[in-house]
Amino acid sequence: MDHGDASINEMNASGSLSSTVSEARLASVFDTAADGIIVMNDRCQVLAFNKASERIFGYDAADLLGGNIDKIMPADYAAAHDGYVRHYLDTGEKKIIGIGREVRGRHKDGTEFPVELSVGEASTPEGRQFIGILRDLRPRRNVEERLAQAQAQLVHMTRISALDEMGAAIAHELNQPLTALILYMQALSRKASALEEANPQFLDILAKALGEAERASDIIQRMRQFVERKEPERELIDIPAFATECIGLVNMADAGDRPDYQLTVSDNLPPLEADAVQIRQVLVNLLRNASDAVQKQPTKIVSLKVQADKGSIEFIVQDSGPGVPDSSIPELFKAFSGRKKKGLGLGLAISRSIAQNHGGDLVLDTNRTESGATFILRLPAGVHQN
Ligand SMILES: Nc1ncnc2c1ncn2[C@@H]1O[C@H](COP(=O)(O)OP(=O)(O)OP(=O)(O)O)[C@@H](O)[C@H]1O
Ligand SMILES: [Mg+2]
Repeated sequence: MDHGDASINEMNASGSLSSTVSEARLASVFDTAADGIIVMNDRCQVLAFNKASERIFGYDAADLLGGNIDKIMPADYAAAHDGYVRHYLDTGEKKIIGIGREVRGRHKDGTEFPVELSVGEASTPEGRQFIGILRDLRPRRNVEERLAQAQAQLVHMTRISALDEMGAAIAHELNQPLTALILYMQALSRKASALEEANPQFLDILAKALGEAERASDIIQRMRQFVERKEPERELIDIPAFATECIGLVNMADAGDRPDYQLTVSDNLPPLEADAVQIRQVLVNLLRNASDAVQKQPTKIVSLKVQADKGSIEFIVQDSGPGVPDSSIPELFKAFSGRKKKGLGLGLAISRSIAQNHGGDLVLDTNRTESGATFILRLPAGVHQN
């Protein structure tokens, strides 16, 4: 670049150019340029500071004209800058002139930010002058950051949906060999126990192996339900009969001391249309969790209350157990978060996804003062058009 004819050093206090027509034209370019333009002499004194520079650095031209340019640099760079310029003047070795690179600028308020700087040189009757063109990189960085965030999010989402698909595919593929394995082992077990000299140790190992295979199959079945997210097949539910049936199911399966189950169903509930199989699974899991929780308690009470609330039907399952420790709450509804030896830790995760698939939700009520845990299953009331 040759700026030799522009006599840029002749300027008035406001930092704009004057004199001839070409200079007037140059002055208007200077002040309307979107990039910052700064001119300094070989002693690093600021000779011109355009409007864009004022916007970028927060200074008025008048604050800087005649002073050292290092005011708009971070301290470490400012300390070395005079030296850099002297080095260039002595050796002619170019580090930035005609090259351009990213440097840090310093705003009047002290904040530092990236700027792209290219520097040209002009020789004038007053000596050498340097013209810096600066572009604030902050807006571009912000856009880049937002773009990077959006990309990361996209990758994450793709990974999750790939996992979903993979989970469903794996569950599907594993299901058949596992079922076959279980059938073979059941046959083997039957044959072995029918033998005259049946070996009890052998039978015991076989029974354990069968138990583990069944457990694996159970995990696969439930994983499938979890990832497949079947659309609910809604039917009108007879709530009192349904609630009694759920309690009956859990009561039957209770292995230890049976808790005292208390059922309260409000009168005049609005109709509920839901997938009975899925909702039964949710309630059975909640009641079973409650029953597990009260096992070691002196009083073993599990209550199920059904009531209407603002267009929803609430199934409230409460127990006299120790409650859910605060530290477990954030992970409670995540898969495989359970703390039981026997449980898979899938119950609440599946239950919540079933509730949400119905347009409802499943939450732990943390506002209660009573000890024990209270879970609320909320389902939208009314008749749905499928
Ligand atoms: N009523 C409750 N009181 C105290 N803790 C509970 C209660 N319900 C659930 N929890 C805690 O939350 C964990 C997760 O429950 P979740 O039903 O998801 O899994 P799980 O019962 O361990 O296994 P499964 O998959 O067989 O249901 C439990 O292991 C238990 O620690
Ligand atoms: Mg459970």
